[in-house]
Amino acid sequence: MHFDDLPRVTLAHLPTPLEPLASLQTTPTGPRVWVKRDDCTGLAFGGNKSRKLEYLLADAEQQGATAVITFGALQSNHARQTAAGCARRGLACALILRDAVGRRVDDYERNANLLYDDLFGATVHRVAADSTPEAVLKTVLAELAQAGHRPYVVPTGGSSAVGALGYARCALEIAAEFKARGLYPGTVIHATSTGGTQGGLVAGFRYAGLATRVLGINVYKADSAAIAADVKTLGQAVLDRLDPSLRLTDDDVEVVDGFLGDGYGQPTAAMVAALRRLASQEGLLFDPVYSGKALAGLLALLEADRLSDDVVFIHTGGAPALPVYASEFLTP
Ligand SMILES: Cc1ncc(COP(=O)(O)O)c(C=O)c1O
Repeated sequence: MHFDDLPRVTLAHLPTPLEPLASLQTTPTGPRVWVKRDDCTGLAFGGNKSRKLEYLLADAEQQGATAVITFGALQSNHARQTAAGCARRGLACALILRDAVGRRVDDYERNANLLYDDLFGATVHRVAADSTPEAVLKTVLAELAQAGHRPYVVPTGGSSAVGALGYARCALEIAAEFKARGLYPGTVIHATSTGGTQGGLVAGFRYAGLATRVLGINVYKADSAAIAADVKTLGQAVLDRLDPSLRLTDDDVEVVDGFLGDGYGQPTAAMVAALRRLASQEGLLFDPVYSGKALAGLLALLEADRLSDDVVFIHTGGAPALPVYASEFLTP
């Protein structure tokens, strides 16, 4: 099936800008680095979920849903963007948010994405760290049904085969942008967690006939093999919709370890240094949980001379939650 035949609602500002990161090219022959500004997708401060939500909310509407339920951590960017997309499309939105990070700072528990979720009119159901969202899901489904709603459940991070289509489309966008410049996107790097972004990209480049390497920097959990398995499953599910003759192998999935630190949402010294460097050298803001750790990965790979032309770093967003991590950057 062709992309344009797949149901999609318009939520994102596309194509996002593709900008050179001049300060990262340290020698005239060193790799050229570009930043794909998916922090500028427009929906609720932008971020990678806008692209996924274009397909997810279209699917929800096609199925006659009137409400969307999704999951995340307390400061989930996916939750914020889902809440905004639902507001735009006239859908009710219920967010089941787990205290997965355990950050005991007042702002973390009340401000930034939690404030925006509230402004977008979403109902937030908080789940303690030692509890599972599944039990709450049952209750929320029952409550919505009682209120006459038809709910559509979006998995954590919007990472279903439908959501991942958004990043296959992004791969085609990158392919077209490089073709127009007479260049080739050799390597794409980004933060990976629930796998939909990476799975979509891997599938999209394959569908476009490009041998672009996609390096997902693990910012999510110690078990990167589990992330790789999810990426492959989601990528293959996307290809099954677009061209079932195309098959992914384990070699198509590269999840890079070494930048997670003590765990999801826990700051690292390399993230702080990378974020400060790009802010002061390029005027760009990244976030401590996802794009900042991925950036630390990019800098380390450049430093180790592990990359060659042309490198695309996808800025997947997240900076709206940067202020709840202020204490990591400012001395009291
Ligand atoms: C800012 C940001 N970057 C990257 C990701 C990772 O995307 P994925 O869940 O598709 O792996 C997320 C997921 O929530 C995110 O919020």
